[in-house]
Amino acid sequence: MRADKIGNASEPLFLLAPMDGMTRASFRSVCFDYGADGATTEMIQSLALGRAKKRMSDTFWETLARYPNERNLAAQLIGSDPAMMAEAARRLTALERFDAIDINMGCPARKVVGSGNGSALLKTPEQALAVMAAVRRATSLPVQLKLRLGWDADSITAPILIRAAAEMGFRSVTLHGRTRSQMYAGPVDTRAIRATCESVRIPIYANGGVTCAADALSFLRDTGAAGVAIGRAALRQPWIFDDIRRLRRGEPIPERTAVERVALLKRLAKLACGHRPERVAVSEMRKFCGWMLPGLSDAEAVLSRLNSIVALEDFNRLMDSYLEWLARRDDLHIHSELMPEPTLDTVRPHR
Ligand SMILES: Cc1cc2nc3c(=O)[nH]c(=O)nc-3n(C[C@H](O)[C@H](O)[C@H](O)COP(=O)(O)O)c2cc1C
Repeated sequence: MRADKIGNASEPLFLLAPMDGMTRASFRSVCFDYGADGATTEMIQSLALGRAKKRMSDTFWETLARYPNERNLAAQLIGSDPAMMAEAARRLTALERFDAIDINMGCPARKVVGSGNGSALLKTPEQALAVMAAVRRATSLPVQLKLRLGWDADSITAPILIRAAAEMGFRSVTLHGRTRSQMYAGPVDTRAIRATCESVRIPIYANGGVTCAADALSFLRDTGAAGVAIGRAALRQPWIFDDIRRLRRGEPIPERTAVERVALLKRLAKLACGHRPERVAVSEMRKFCGWMLPGLSDAEAVLSRLNSIVALEDFNRLMDSYLEWLARRDDLHIHSELMPEPTLDTVRPHR
């Protein structure tokens, strides 16, 4: 039963955290290739699920798509109306495509919290509990919760909600160790995550601020969590899941050379073109190239040429000629002095 495994695993799990605009099927599939133990779709508006099929965007359908290599995939719902969330959960369940339903109580975006959704539910625990109970009743799938510590330092509501999740039979919780008022910056409170893990009998996946494989392992140790959910670092290094596995086995972490990066980017572009208009999918590759090419010689020149490319064939040609150019110079390796600081701040949620 793969759906249950994630809630009862004895080995720590390393999961791809949900990211709006990013964790669509194509990117998720690449992370699974590198050994992610599970993933969550980007958030799906409970309202949107009720709309007619023809009005939904291509990205919406890609979010709901699933590749065979996606081993543990949860679909994430966002909303604050219990009846609407229950209906959305029923519809997702009827697709018979997901292993779990995840409830978003972490999104801090002003527009989202302004309508009482996402992390706004941390301020209204009764409403949050009503949403949780309604979704739990509506689906036969395991249900999981993703939340922050609380709205701000004076209202830490995660422990109450997590205890309720355990009582309602939720499968797991992903806990971002920041409050809503911290948004995406500032220290992640590992002690608060540890205290929560010690006080409940439900697997908690620690989340927030991991920048590399070594970081993920120390975060796991410091929090005592059942695993770690990785967001922004995976956008720059989808191979982080493989790095983690190797590090845990005491193996060296391989350098991800130009050959591997270009192959990965071409695969991602090809997959994305299967879901969205080619022009859109190829344009969106600019951001992934911007995250994965720095460190290689003359990456800026490639990035600026990408600005005028909208066809998959041209994208592939550019990647191939860049690789050939690097190979001719015997320069396929990463130059640490060209690498940007390992900061997560350049990856911003776009809402
Ligand atoms: C671009 C972006 C989009 C995000 N979208 C979602 C989302 O749809 N649902 C959600 O629960 N969290 C979302 N998050 C939050 C991440 O899942 C994660 O909690 C946060 O980025 C902290 O983890 P990290 O430091 O490993 O990135 C998003 C974060 C980013 C950067």
